[in-house]
Amino acid sequence: CGIVGYVGRRSAVDVVIDGLRRLEYRGYDSAGVALVADGPEGGLEVDKRAGKLANLEGALADHPLPESFCGIGHTRWATHGVPSDRNAHPHLSADGRVALIHNGIIENFAQLRAELESEGVEFESDTDTEAAAHLLGREYAVDGDLTEAMTRVCVRLEGAFTLLAVAADDPDTVVGARRNSPLVVGLGEGEYFLASDVAAFIAYTTDAVELGQDQIVTIDRDGVTVRGFDGQASEGTPFSVDWDIAAAEKGGFDTFMRKEIHEQPAAVADTLRGRIDESGQIVLDEVRMSDQDFRDIDKVFIIACGTSYHAGLVTKYAIEHWTRIPCEVELASEFRYRDPVLDRSTLVVAISQSGETMDTLMAVRHAKDQKARVLSISNTVGSTIPRESDAVLYTRAGIEVAVASTKAFLTQLAACYLVGLHLAQVRGIKYADEVSAVLDELVAAPGKIAKVIEDLEPVRQMARDCASAQRVLFIGRHVGYPVALEGALKLKELAYLHAEGFAAGELKHGPISLIEEGTPVIAIVPSPRGRSLLHDKIISNIQEVKARGAKVIAVCEEGDRITKAHADLVITTPASPTLLAPLLTAVPLQEFAAELATALGRDIDQPRNLAKSVTVE
Ligand code: G6P
Repeated sequence: CGIVGYVGRRSAVDVVIDGLRRLEYRGYDSAGVALVADGPEGGLEVDKRAGKLANLEGALADHPLPESFCGIGHTRWATHGVPSDRNAHPHLSADGRVALIHNGIIENFAQLRAELESEGVEFESDTDTEAAAHLLGREYAVDGDLTEAMTRVCVRLEGAFTLLAVAADDPDTVVGARRNSPLVVGLGEGEYFLASDVAAFIAYTTDAVELGQDQIVTIDRDGVTVRGFDGQASEGTPFSVDWDIAAAEKGGFDTFMRKEIHEQPAAVADTLRGRIDESGQIVLDEVRMSDQDFRDIDKVFIIACGTSYHAGLVTKYAIEHWTRIPCEVELASEFRYRDPVLDRSTLVVAISQSGETMDTLMAVRHAKDQKARVLSISNTVGSTIPRESDAVLYTRAGIEVAVASTKAFLTQLAACYLVGLHLAQVRGIKYADEVSAVLDELVAAPGKIAKVIEDLEPVRQMARDCASAQRVLFIGRHVGYPVALEGALKLKELAYLHAEGFAAGELKHGPISLIEEGTPVIAIVPSPRGRSLLHDKIISNIQEVKARGAKVIAVCEEGDRITKAHADLVITTPASPTLLAPLLTAVPLQEFAAELATALGRDIDQPRNLAKSVTVE
């Protein structure tokens, strides 16, 4: 969910709605605001609607709320209770004097709800949040101090939560609290912001404060105060945001996703810039590990979710090849529940664009409990996963707004390659020459990605031609296999079409039965140079599916005449070393999914049921 709070001199509803628009990628099944009316009488004004933010905006345009300089807003990704007006946030306390919004899950809500109901409180929604709203209202009634009330409530809550609250008779204060869910503070002049992430307020200020675990923050027109759940005074960590506001606008493209696909060459170049020093050594951002720690590593685990997991799968091939250290890749949501074997000499690499994905965060904590070292790769400075890691390398994709990840994925690949090469360097390996050759190739990648993007028109035509297909299959070998998985994920996310990625060699062991006359099969073909064995094998796989009626679209290297002879259609990419090829081959698959989804009339920036940052387990 996305959360915004504001106190200052501007119209609160304008600032809050603007912030919600920039956070809508965090969830968009309902939205709501609560404002404290200005003037001695105060009073809470609440409006909330099921559906996208536009529904709420329409309602507010028809029935404007009274002037206010203090308010909170929420855009929801449902956990407890279907998306509806009733379940939308804010939720009010029984006496209507306190309004509360929430991101996360309050795990003991059933118990709290039973307790409140036994005391005669009537619930209006199916949410876990409403229990906290009633508790807060009850505590606020004791002494009329919202910060004190929040402190007493938080110690009773279990689970993960960010909470923001306002009170009817306090038109100058927003109180926030966080445990395991994101919340940052924006510092303006005589105005202050609270939000799930900085995107919500970078139009107003780039000065921000990151909060720690179990902290309560109060903003009013005079400033910001922070305390712990134990009531003791505390402090956040100031930082400055270097994201550009233009990055949060569409800049002439019809969708954010298209804009972000086009930003990939620059995003990858930014991610590489300054990371390789004069002597050719790779530099991490924050390292709380010594070179000796890196040398002691005897096993690597990569943990991530969704698209980031696919970046991890590619990385396994690179790390094992360059360092000869065994490397496993695992979905973060599975990792800690199966008791993996970890110790001080295990390096856990956590990949998370948002730095807040709860499945990944919990896996990181499990790894740390087992004494493993954690290195994170994230796009979000100040987010929780990097903060809890022993070393960090930030991707520099800038804000990614479209829910389906594109530029974040490519920058994750670039950062992962750097991590693999860094490990190879600190450990001193026999592949020294190869490492420097790979570095040169990495630096050349942005130019090649730009070339792929220039040539996307034929891909769009192929996508439109596939729009009536029942399903689309993707096959690949080696690093082409994770690319196939990512291509299929993009299509599922955007077009709601049955799409699956397979290891090309595995197709004949079952999934080949899915192929009918005309089924599109997209084959990711490795370079015919070098590893020609791999190339020969996939040509055989292409022949197998063609023999059963498939229409084969091959993504292959320029000049690959053998593939051209066997496939129905080809998409070509510039020559590249096999391990780095995903930086190029993933790009046409992004555009393919976007165009096919557009042909089917889908909302490609905000596909149904999804959220960009999932802060629940
Ligand atoms: C969500 C998004 C995916 C993303 C995944 C992991 O499911 O919809 O696009 O890949 O989370 O996100 P992270 O921020 O941890 O990379």
